[in-house]
Amino acid sequence: MKILVIGASGRVGSDLVKQLLANDHQVIGTTRQDEKLFSENNYSQLDLDITADKDAIQQQIEQDIDTVYFVAGSGGKDILEVDLHGAIKTMQAVKDKGIKRYIMLSTVFSLDTSKWNSPGIADLKEYYICKHYADQWLVNNSNLDYTIVQAGALKERAGTGKITINDDNAGENAIKEAIEKL
Ligand SMILES: NC(=O)c1ccc[n+]([C@@H]2O[C@H](COP(=O)([O-])OP(=O)(O)OC[C@H]3O[C@@H](n4cnc5c(N)ncnc54)[C@H](OP(=O)(O)O)[C@@H]3O)[C@@H](O)[C@H]2O)c1
Repeated sequence: MKILVIGASGRVGSDLVKQLLANDHQVIGTTRQDEKLFSENNYSQLDLDITADKDAIQQQIEQDIDTVYFVAGSGGKDILEVDLHGAIKTMQAVKDKGIKRYIMLSTVFSLDTSKWNSPGIADLKEYYICKHYADQWLVNNSNLDYTIVQAGALKERAGTGKITINDDNAGENAIKEAIEKL
């Protein structure tokens, strides 16, 4: 498959690209960095800034892409522009390009506002608001065939191979296991 990874330089994005390349997919990764992130023949790179206009974003996206992964994020510095408006512009651009499949890395309880006073979330209210409405857009307005992965705090550690269900705590996930869910 031909796959676009928005946010290929990030902690999640770089692991995700490695895994997709290992599975023989053709990957286009986005970063605003100059240097090429991966040397594999199946990898190409796009200098994409999602704070740009929707039309400019759309022009940079190739038509024949099968799946788009959104694993970009502001890290708290430009939350409205990146995690909310930037994310939604990529959904609109992808849709208008005729691409159907869109996979969003979101955050635990993004759609469950009743959990937002929990430890670990209460300090991230603005980020949660942005992820909430970006996810809502994807579900209700995008017409895309979507998956939303709501990860807890992402850690560079080995996975346990286990899950906890009906958990009220935000908790944490190994990046490698979160990627398997993407
Ligand atoms: N970290 C966690 O514990 C956690 C938990 C749950 C969910 N998440 C979600 O997962 C996302 C990814 O996490 P991560 O730890 O991999 O993040 P990260 O290492 O900070 O990577 C962020 C990525 O976003 C890209 N980016 C930032 N601003 C951009 C812009 N204006 N235009 C285009 N790309 C931009 C960066 O690309 P450049 O190379 O261009 O800078 C980079 O690839 C987070 O943003 C968050 O929404 C994270």
